[in-house]
Amino acid sequence: MRRPIVAGNWKMHGSRAENARLVEELLAQAPAAPAADCVVCPPLVYLQEVGRQLRGSIYILGAQDVCADTQGAFTGEVSAAMLKDIGCEYVIVGHSERRLLYRESDQLVARKFSAAHSKGLVPILCVGEQLADREAGRTNEIVARQLDVVLELCGAGTLERGVIAYEPVWAIGTGRNATPDQAQEVHAFIRGRIAARDAKIAAATRILYGGSVKAGNAAELFNRPDVDGGLIGGASLKADEFLTILAAARPG
Ligand code: PGA
Repeated sequence: MRRPIVAGNWKMHGSRAENARLVEELLAQAPAAPAADCVVCPPLVYLQEVGRQLRGSIYILGAQDVCADTQGAFTGEVSAAMLKDIGCEYVIVGHSERRLLYRESDQLVARKFSAAHSKGLVPILCVGEQLADREAGRTNEIVARQLDVVLELCGAGTLERGVIAYEPVWAIGTGRNATPDQAQEVHAFIRGRIAARDAKIAAATRILYGGSVKAGNAAELFNRPDVDGGLIGGASLKADEFLTILAAARPG
């Protein structure tokens, strides 16, 4: 039985005042015993403050990105050890916005996954195809390539403390989610690909769906056998919406 995860990616939104309001609502409406782990990923500059506000609650702190290198002369970067030091437990790596807007390669993403894992963080590895890839029937090929680079560098064993998020790029922030069938198909493909290396690890790996998850579609997506929760963008900025999504996640 895999315990699902619902993770909120706040992206570059918010301010101290807005975060305080959102945190207050999240705390006030928090379920006593959620059926899923609930991760919140604020912008880097607010991590410590939000982490302090959420301490002792059901919410687990996550970051949106991490440096692939350990320490040293890397101006503007933040290491996995630093994130761990301020109380982060999770970190998103390889989000499509970073891959596409900041040209992060599969190799760099794999190094970030490795850096996060080696410092005790749980990396959430995002993979997913663009619309043209899907239309050309190349979804599995793209996802396999993104996944394999990580499995080659880090080994399937690292997924014992690692999460995959399947996020079709065409579904992110567009209001057009993948259908539950489309999500299930790719999730099953991902699990099969991991199973080819280690069946036990594959059975235990949590694979999240991301891309226009909302209160209204979360349950039908999360009900599919290989969908173990979600990575939520826009809807994670509204407490009631995010908590409705959290409530839709059930161990399967
Ligand atoms: P969205 O973003 O829920 O706003 O589509 C998902 C994500 O980018 O993780």
